[in-house]
Amino acid sequence: MLIAGNWKMNKTRPEAVALAEEIVSGYGPVAGVDVAICPPAPCLDAVGAVVGNSGIKVGAQNVHAAEAGAYTGEVSAGMLRSVGCRYVIVGHSERRQYFGESDADVNAKARRTIEYGMVPIVCVGEHLEQRESGKAEDVVRAQVLGALDGITVGDPTGLVIAYEPVWAIGTGVTASPGQAQEMHAFIRQLLIGSLGDVGSGIDILYGGSMKPNNASELLSQGDVNGGLIGGASLDAASFAAIIAAAVDLA
Ligand code: PGA
Repeated sequence: MLIAGNWKMNKTRPEAVALAEEIVSGYGPVAGVDVAICPPAPCLDAVGAVVGNSGIKVGAQNVHAAEAGAYTGEVSAGMLRSVGCRYVIVGHSERRQYFGESDADVNAKARRTIEYGMVPIVCVGEHLEQRESGKAEDVVRAQVLGALDGITVGDPTGLVIAYEPVWAIGTGVTASPGQAQEMHAFIRQLLIGSLGDVGSGIDILYGGSMKPNNASELLSQGDVNGGLIGGASLDAASFAAIIAAAVDLA
C-alpha cells in the first residue's frame, strides 16, 4: 500500500516546509503502508530535509526524459535523484492535457526514472466522454501498454501505477469503489500480461477526489493498493486521516 500526496503547483518553500513539518509530526511508520509527498520541484530539497529519516519518502511531479542538456526550464532524473527523490509522478492527466504529453513521452520519462533508480508513478485514466461512450478500458489499455513499452521490472516495488479518472480529479466526484476495482482489476491483468508475475505485486493507486470520508471504502477493494491524493494532501489532518485508513486495512 502506498499513500502519495501530489501537491501540484501549490506551496512556496516556507509553506511547503510548514506543511511537511505538520505531516511528519503526526506520522509514525507502519509496516505495509508507504507514504510519500510530492511537492513542487523548488521545494524538494527543503521538504526532503524535513522528512529526514521519518520514513516518509519524497517524490517529484514530473521529469524530463533527456539526461541533460539544452532543455531550458526542465529538470532531469539525475537532479531529482540528487535531492533525494524516491518517486516521480509521470503522465499525470494535467501534464497530458496542458502540456501535450503523449504515451511515448510518458514511456521515455518512466524509463529514465527507472534508470536513475527511482520509482515512476505512472498515471492513467479516461475522460468523462470516453467513459460515457464505453471507451474507458480502451483508453486505459493504450496508456498502460504505451507507458510500459520496453520496460522490465525486476521487483514489484520498482513501479507504481495510478488510475485517475479525469472526471474525478479535483471535482469532488469520486469513482465508486466498484468502478475503481473494476478498472484496477483490468490494469492488473495488463500488468501481468506485459510484465509477468511481478505485475501481481505492483501497487495500483486510485486517484481522484480521495478524501478521509471515502478512503477506507476505496482502499478496501482488492486491487486498490493505495491512493494518489491531490487536494486532501494539502491539509495535514486530511492526509493523516487517509494514511490512518490505509493503516487500518494493512
Ligand atoms: P484530487 O487530485 O485528489 O484533488 O482529485 C488527485 C490527483 O490529481 O492526483
